[in-house]
Amino acid sequence: MPSLSEQVVLITGASAGIGAALAQLLAQRFIGIRLVLAARNVEKLEAIAALCRFAGAEVLAHPTDLEKIEQVEALAQAAIAKFGRVDALVNNAGYGQMGPVELILAVDELSILVPWEDGWHFPLGVYIVPLNLL
Ligand SMILES: NC(=O)c1ccc[n+]([C@@H]2O[C@H](COP(=O)([O-])OP(=O)(O)OC[C@H]3O[C@@H](n4cnc5c(N)ncnc54)[C@H](OP(=O)(O)O)[C@@H]3O)[C@@H](O)[C@H]2O)c1
Repeated sequence: MPSLSEQVVLITGASAGIGAALAQLLAQRFIGIRLVLAARNVEKLEAIAALCRFAGAEVLAHPTDLEKIEQVEALAQAAIAKFGRVDALVNNAGYGQMGPVELILAVDELSILVPWEDGWHFPLGVYIVPLNLL
């Protein structure tokens, strides 16, 4: 398997939290890595992309709302157009809901599954933590 420095890694939810931290860590540890960063907030996404570029990564920052299929398709097309392929997908975008389970929306209302040409899916993660486990 080629080094991560030679790979193209697509990270969703890269504007904040775990996704942003992972992008910066990969950029710092694997000089020359190619990153495709996706999230909705353009300013935050560009700020993370700038930090990654400064660390030595080649970065495509692509504003994307994963709940909108046309934007997911545009993300995939932009990644292929820029880098020719995607070697790894970190499908991190999502959010948690905390509170009484009866107040949490049904998972079916929140989960998004998006088919892609070759069978890939980009589910928008939903993480539910029962309060009594915290
Ligand atoms: N933190 C934890 O303790 C924990 C534990 C277990 C699992 N997780 C899961 O790990 C993932 C990241 O958690 P986190 O704590 O880093 O969350 P976070 O700080 O809230 O970051 C969430 C990221 O997802 C993006 N995002 C949310 N909805 C999106 C959408 N519709 N389209 C595109 N991007 C979207 C946000 O960017 P924009 O707002 O810019 O779109 C942001 O970059 C989540 O899936 C979460 O459920 C977290």
